[in-house]
Amino acid sequence: MRLRLSIARSSIFAAGLVAVAGPLLYSNGRAQQPQAGKPAPPASTEKAKYLGADACQLCHETGPRGRFKDDFVRLTEYKTWKTDKHSQAYAKLNEARSKQIGMLLKIADVTKDDRCLNCHAANVPLDLRVGTEGQAYRLEDGVSCDACHGPSSLWLTPHFTEPGWRTKPTAEKQKLGFYDVRDPVERSQLCLSCHVGSMADGKVVTHDMYAAGHPPLPSIEVATFSDSMPRHWRYMKEKGPKIWAAFHYDPKKELEQTRLTVLSGVVALRVAANLLASQARKGRQESGWPEFAQLDCYACHHDLKVESWRLKRGYMGMPGRPQMRSWPLELVKLGIRLAGEEPTRVKQAEDALTMAFSAQPFGDPEKIAAAASDLSAWSQRLTQRLGARQYDQPAARKLLRELCAIAQEGVLDYDSARQVTWAFKIIYSELEPKARDKEVRSILKSLDTELKLELPSGTDKSILGELTQGLKTINHYDPYRFRALIEELSRQLPQD
Ligand code: HEC
Ligand code: HEC
Ligand code: HEC
Ligand code: HEC
Ligand code: HEC
Repeated sequence: MRLRLSIARSSIFAAGLVAVAGPLLYSNGRAQQPQAGKPAPPASTEKAKYLGADACQLCHETGPRGRFKDDFVRLTEYKTWKTDKHSQAYAKLNEARSKQIGMLLKIADVTKDDRCLNCHAANVPLDLRVGTEGQAYRLEDGVSCDACHGPSSLWLTPHFTEPGWRTKPTAEKQKLGFYDVRDPVERSQLCLSCHVGSMADGKVVTHDMYAAGHPPLPSIEVATFSDSMPRHWRYMKEKGPKIWAAFHYDPKKELEQTRLTVLSGVVALRVAANLLASQARKGRQESGWPEFAQLDCYACHHDLKVESWRLKRGYMGMPGRPQMRSWPLELVKLGIRLAGEEPTRVKQAEDALTMAFSAQPFGDPEKIAAAASDLSAWSQRLTQRLGARQYDQPAARKLLRELCAIAQEGVLDYDSARQVTWAFKIIYSELEPKARDKEVRSILKSLDTELKLELPSGTDKSILGELTQGLKTINHYDPYRFRALIEELSRQLPQD
């Protein structure tokens, strides 16, 4: 099945056209009645389908043209996405490393296997794949526009012809299959479904895959990862007064990336806890537990040392019984403090999880599943509370101090330290005024050396190429040095 995108391309930009995708005809941005013989408008029950990146290239590559101005969006998104690793996520499955993974795991063809495709492409059901005219749907688009913005068959035409589309209530856009990636919670869920994983979506990197050569999934802070994609959008704060007025947005009262950072920390715990719960549950039925990919990698993978920081730190549970990867439990503390949440509530849930992992080697899967589900439900409620509050300058100042406190109270592992530092950098970037900027920048530089904060993102950098250096950094990481740097940082922050 192909979509009709047959109008001469130039006519779309000229004043008079237009109909591209849907059966509805439009001109000058105003909807017209369907002509005789044309199919009726889609019933709302029609399934939204995926068109692939070609359907977007037409308008979103070369910048403003004709009646399409760049006051709201840049219209160069396709060009940027071509320099973004997501556009080659599928192509990576053709490379030597993927072939090696396939060979070791006895996967006949990694470019055709759902276990890989679900994260490395928009691998949607066959009946939802629609090409544009002259071009079939292509898995080769990798993590394409539709994968993040939603299946576009129903919203494609209205989104550039309907005059009020921009400010249309989100719920109405969503009915057409449009994902609201401006919403921090929805965005975080989307990114984390692939960058942490989701059993329900069939997106899981197993320890077998790691052992066969899949690079370790790093911890993630969504605002930082969004900025590094590289980013193909302007934030609301960069769009200017005309757009601010239309969206009732006040850049002084709303620090959008700060909001994203806080909420994404909570969503990360929920997504990680859900994955843990579903794998532990699967373990019981299919004896697939323990799944080492869910445990703290560096509990097992570290050099033996005489003076180990692990001995100095002590253990969360029983020595020698690895716990879950701990980074999803750190940034969430920021949300807890901001919401004024009773810390004992989450402490209880965490303790239950620690006990479940200590109960027997690799943990008691039933108890792990129960405790993880409990944490997930609790973080869902915290997300709602945090969504309702304001993120302004006083909040940013408080958040930076709280972050430093969180980092100084615990002994954070490498992944957690990185996530917390990324969050610091995002919130700090929105802080105004910046009292001792020079000092802060210099400490952040030392933190960069300690943690290798820069991602190998963008098509010009290589994840596997930088892995050697990355693993060295992890091996040299010292949580006490990290803590000392954070202490210095906290001394530079404004005190209200
Ligand atoms: C015929 C031209 C055209 C095509 C084809 C097109 N777009 Fe757009 N798109 C636009 C224009 C123009 C805007 C800005 C609308 C405005 O100014 O309100 C826009 C806005 C958007 C926005 C922001 C909308 C919002 O509500 O926040 C997204 C996201 C988007 N496009 C994604 C896509 C994707 C994904 C595709 C391919 C499936 C696509 N577009 C295809 C012209 C197009
Ligand atoms: C849960 C989602 C998920 C699944 C399932 C998955 N991957 Fe990945 N893969 C990723 C992410 C995310 C990255 C980027 C990791 C990073 O940021 O360092 C990646 C990176 C890679 C890389 C390195 C890419 C590069 O740029 O060099 C290869 C190769 C790879 N994956 C192959 C595979 C193969 C083969 C499979 C199936 C056996 C698979 N992946 C399954 C999410 C996934
Ligand atoms: C990995 C996910 C991802 C992919 C792939 C992706 N986008 Fe986006 N897109 C986002 C996010 C996140 C935003 C930011 C929303 C915000 O905060 O304003 C965004 C914003 C946009 C906007 C709004 C720009 C603005 O300035 O407000 C447009 C238009 C858009 N994307 C088009 C595209 C097109 C076209 C493609 C494919 C060529 C694409 N996107 C691929 C995640 C993605
Ligand atoms: C409970 C202990 C344990 C945990 C936790 C664990 N692994 Fe492993 N890992 C192993 C064992 C055992 C092997 C197999 C070594 C062999 O066969 O030589 C292995 C092998 C590997 C290998 C490939 C072989 C090598 O020695 O380099 C990689 C890469 C790897 N693991 C990554 C990870 C990552 C990433 C995590 C965390 C998400 C993780 N592991 C968690 C025990 C563990
Ligand atoms: C459908 C799965 C999927 C979704 C959804 C997704 N990603 Fe990715 N992402 C990947 C894969 C796979 C890679 C690795 C691609 C490669 O190396 O070729 C990747 C790579 C990246 C990288 C480069 C990583 C590195 O270590 O340098 C960043 C940054 C990133 N994604 C951010 C995001 C953000 C932000 C979102 C949400 C707006 C998002 N991703 C949504 C699958 C996904």
